[in-house]
Amino acid sequence: MNEHDRLVDRAAREARTVLFVGGLDAGKSTLARATAAFALRLGRTVAYLDADVAQKTVGPPATVGLKHIREPDDLTLERLATADALGFVGSTSPQGHILPLVGALARLRERGRTEGADLIVVDTSAMVSGIWGQLVKYYKVDMLEPDLVVGLQRGEELEPVLGVIQRFFGVELVTLPVHPAVVPTSVDQRATQRERAMAAYFDGDLQRFRVKPTVFMPTLPPLFDLHELDRLLVGLSDGGGGFTGLGYLEFVPEDHGLRLISPVAEPPKALRLGSVRLEDSFRVKRVDLRNLFGTE
Ligand SMILES: Nc1ncnc2c1ncn2[C@@H]1O[C@H](COP(=O)(O)OP(=O)(O)O)[C@@H](O)[C@H]1O
Ligand SMILES: [Mg+2]
Repeated sequence: MNEHDRLVDRAAREARTVLFVGGLDAGKSTLARATAAFALRLGRTVAYLDADVAQKTVGPPATVGLKHIREPDDLTLERLATADALGFVGSTSPQGHILPLVGALARLRERGRTEGADLIVVDTSAMVSGIWGQLVKYYKVDMLEPDLVVGLQRGEELEPVLGVIQRFFGVELVTLPVHPAVVPTSVDQRATQRERAMAAYFDGDLQRFRVKPTVFMPTLPPLFDLHELDRLLVGLSDGGGGFTGLGYLEFVPEDHGLRLISPVAEPPKALRLGSVRLEDSFRVKRVDLRNLFGTE
């Protein structure tokens, strides 16, 4: 057994919440799936919590997703892509979005537990360096209270962030080198993967709902030009604090109104504005709502 297999064996047997941390293409998702697969074989009740908002395993980009793993086939990439529960972050980077990110994760973790999961495997974003990397990981650990954190690193890139986790939380840490068989993807390939994942989410039967300008969070300022919201990503509220999925807005000049375009059949109770616009190819472009609203 190599050290990666030993880690999977141990996490699958002993952990309650295991968090995988690492940079780009570190093997986080692969190891998270392997852990879930082995835990399932051991007869444990497993849920996969995907906290990576960019390179998704569960749910579309700009969300966090929970998936219960009830049989081995639930771990195929195709099945994992459909979440059992979604949280809306509204951005494909955690930068500037820690609150919606950890808030949604806390909710999904709770849901996973109440629905019976005794092991929660947490896959995280590749943001591991700089101030944002440290803040994001600090608050994820603070909120999710893992009993095991696995760091997958090249060289010593994770030392600052793992040091923070160790000093503040005293959680058990296992550090492994990135598996030599990992083939890194380029920046372009990753961008293409994100576009494809978003495009795939909006592929198929789409609903078009007329939306009133009063359904948004945050609330639109008075005399706001609705045209500014064209192609903005939104989260579809279920009215109970959760989200049923994603949509985007379309400005209709004929009636100077907005339509919601979404694959979710059920009309949403309210809409949370995201911080990205979907360009034609489903490439995302950052939007700062404060600039859009002309407020703080
Ligand atoms: N142990 C491994 N052996 C071979 N290939 C691997 C291994 N772990 C990861 N890979 C491959 O490397 C790439 C990145 O792995 P992934 O788990 O998606 O990383 P991350 O989630 O950290 O971005 C994927 O193509 C994956 O199939
Ligand atoms: Mg991944």
